[in-house]
Amino acid sequence: MTSPLITLYPVIAPVSQPDQDLKGREKVVRLSQLARLALQRSCRISGLRLDSLPKNEDGVPLPVDGVYWSISHKSEVVGGVAAPMPVGFDLEILRPINPALMDRVADIDEWGLVGSEQTQTTFFRFWTAKEAVLKAEGKGFAGLSRCRIAQIIDTTCMVLTFDDRRWPVSHFWFGDQVAAITSHHFAVDWQIVKALS
Ligand SMILES: CC(C)(COP(=O)(O)OP(=O)(O)OC[C@H]1O[C@@H](n2cnc3c(N)ncnc32)[C@H](O)[C@@H]1OP(=O)(O)O)[C@@H](O)C(=O)NCCC(=O)NCCS
Repeated sequence: MTSPLITLYPVIAPVSQPDQDLKGREKVVRLSQLARLALQRSCRISGLRLDSLPKNEDGVPLPVDGVYWSISHKSEVVGGVAAPMPVGFDLEILRPINPALMDRVADIDEWGLVGSEQTQTTFFRFWTAKEAVLKAEGKGFAGLSRCRIAQIIDTTCMVLTFDDRRWPVSHFWFGDQVAAITSHHFAVDWQIVKALS
């Protein structure tokens, strides 16, 4: 039997210039707070509830009453999503990359899936997809070697594996930014908001 399709509503918002101009710890705290506001917006749109946002001793977000959550905060953009199943979400800003990182994000077999498309865009697609799966699995960077690109479906959909588990991932491109979300049994309705409060 096929599981029913559930729609997820990841919320993404730009970081205001005053917040981008913050420094050090103050900036980290503010970005983290903004990502949580995006997450609460995702809860409201989804009809899901998260009264607290606990994490384990490794910093992995823990579900509350069956509601899972994942957030990402970068200097210029933040986002978050709530889901009734394990979920991973990641954001990146496209920027020049050190060529050595190409081999770090994927091996020769994984790069072979895209042929000549070994571009900055594909790099960030792979990177965010792996980050999303690592987050959904509750693993940080340490799990990277167990996470592999298995199949490219089209420009917004690919399949990864973590050990023997398959993780479909959806991408969303906006300007020079890209978002990725694990989308097992999920439809995804991306929500781009101008500001968070
Ligand atoms: C920590 C990690 C999960 C993501 O970090 P990141 O991309 O730098 O940061 P993001 O802003 O996207 O995500 C941070 C959020 O992820 C969550 N998170 C942290 N560790 C996590 C874990 N092990 N599993 C799931 N979620 C985690 C937290 O909620 C955190 O926000 P908070 O501290 O405000 O609660 C991890 O994958 C990492 O260290 N990445 C380093 C970059 C790298 O080398 N990636 C290789 C990809 S090819």
